[in-house]
Amino acid sequence: MCGIVGYIGTRDAVEIILSGLHRLEYRGYDSAGIAVVTSNGLDCVKAPGKLSGLEEALRRHPLHANLGIGHTRWATHGAPSETNAHPHLDAPMEIAVVHNGIIENYHELRAQLQADGVEFRSQTDTEVIPHLVRRYYEGNLFAAVRRALSKLEGAYAIGVVCSAEPNLLVAARQGSPLIIGVGQDEMFIASDVPAILKYTRRVAYLENGQVCALHRDGFWVEDIDGVEQRLPIETVDLDETAAEKENFPHFMLKEIYQQPEVIRNTLRGRAREGSHEVRLDDMHLAAGDLLNCSKIVMVSCGTSWHASLAGKYIIESLARVPVEVDLASEFRYRNPILRPDTIVMAVTQSGETADTLEAIRIAKKSGARVVSIVNVVGSSIARESHGVLYTQAGPEIGVASTKAYTSQVTALSLFAIYLANLRETATADTLGGVIEHLRAIPEKLQWCLDHQDTVRKVSGDPRYCHARSFLYLGRSYNLPSALEGALKLKEISYIHAEGYGAGEMKHGPIALVTGAMPVVCIAVRSAVYDKMLSNIQEIRAREGLVLAIATEGDEAIRRYCDDVIYVPECYEPLSPIVVAIPVQLLAYYIAVNRHCDVDQPRNLAKSVTVE
Ligand code: F6R
Repeated sequence: MCGIVGYIGTRDAVEIILSGLHRLEYRGYDSAGIAVVTSNGLDCVKAPGKLSGLEEALRRHPLHANLGIGHTRWATHGAPSETNAHPHLDAPMEIAVVHNGIIENYHELRAQLQADGVEFRSQTDTEVIPHLVRRYYEGNLFAAVRRALSKLEGAYAIGVVCSAEPNLLVAARQGSPLIIGVGQDEMFIASDVPAILKYTRRVAYLENGQVCALHRDGFWVEDIDGVEQRLPIETVDLDETAAEKENFPHFMLKEIYQQPEVIRNTLRGRAREGSHEVRLDDMHLAAGDLLNCSKIVMVSCGTSWHASLAGKYIIESLARVPVEVDLASEFRYRNPILRPDTIVMAVTQSGETADTLEAIRIAKKSGARVVSIVNVVGSSIARESHGVLYTQAGPEIGVASTKAYTSQVTALSLFAIYLANLRETATADTLGGVIEHLRAIPEKLQWCLDHQDTVRKVSGDPRYCHARSFLYLGRSYNLPSALEGALKLKEISYIHAEGYGAGEMKHGPIALVTGAMPVVCIAVRSAVYDKMLSNIQEIRAREGLVLAIATEGDEAIRRYCDDVIYVPECYEPLSPIVVAIPVQLLAYYIAVNRHCDVDQPRNLAKSVTVE
């Protein structure tokens, strides 16, 4: 949550910072601001709302400099407003700070500073930082920042500039991500790599507890106690267009369309034709750990939690290991039973979700092995896990997760096959067959993308797009699909939606069913198909509006439903990957028909780096 960018060099800092902020807007977009340092001192422009508001303000009050910091905010402390927007300044307005994270002891710090006569301008936790830096400033910004940080508790990634030191940008990280970009006579800081990809591919990942001084021609890193640290510079291999919409109206639609290719990438080099084995070379987990594990505990949030549920079904069925799926936010506050032979598996797109990160830290402390399914290479969770399986989905910019979800379910299926081979819980024929089914998935996804007439028609039908509430029902392997469908719809169209196990319907939710309530029933051919049909008939008997997602060729189901969206025949355990496409498209087109801001839904941010 919140995106930060900083620049020091010879070019126009404002243009570079704005370009970076545009790429970080997915992290928050309720206000934005920039501070620059010139020979005339420090200047700062802020505006509420999206970046367009800041751009408008900059047209009225242009800034020109070669050193600056910028921020796009997702409010935690203090309402979204110009005053609460970052950068925050010290009292004489000579030191400016941008911050991503939460300062947990800001109440005490604020009270102490106020007792010393400091006047606060905002309601934010962040504002304590510039005032603390000012308190310790004796002509050396780097030293003052280090001292200020020693007083902070909580999570932060910060960028700091000071008018008295026009050749210095200071950055620090504890808990929230921050990368350093290395250019020719210029240096950058940013919350993630795509923000600076236009300018450099050479990056260093700042570690927790490190403070960095950046000059035009290099950088210097120390830990908080002043001990010098060495940071390797890596060259990243990311496609710059990955962070562009290209010809799509929204990132979400682009990312939905990327899924056939994304699944090919997730499988590439791992699941070969004609083999019953998968290669997970990058996972770095000893076979013994996997062979002897007594239980897998998955920790994740939101859509990644739904992918974990889908993974549980596949792993348990193929590898016969008990799998618990925990919300990371719950796991961290109960007293989970973990043993050295427990494998804890974080599933996360960003690799930065605060609750998931904390969950794996707790797991490591208890001696469990941690293997994670992560999309963002080099993210905190990837670096702190014993083993990682990257999903290879490429940058996901749309706030609503799409390609990350299907690539996570694919990666979990690969993991299930890997484990089943090791533990010899399924025959080579069975596992070879699953690999073939997996390799056929991209084509099936393409089929869904090529046959979207019904999804489009239904999305424009007022009975659906003006409905107040939806129910999504699925069972067995497709219960997670129902949960994910409901989440997609509510987050981007603001229509209330519930996902339920269809078998649970009679235990309560059926009371909601009326003719005004669309019920999306995932009824693909499966071991529970007949059960789903019975559930559909129960809904029809109560005049519910039934939209089924069924298998191509199943004409009989039309008799019981108002509308049917078809998907190709699919091996049941992998069907959640295929069902995801119509479920995502339905939410997308309904949201577009309701004129919602699909890529930046209200109140949300892509990367939830605070609790
Ligand atoms: C929903 C969505 C969120 C994320 C959740 C976890 O579309 O994107 O529910 O899935 O915030 O994020 P990651 O996967 O980055 O840990």
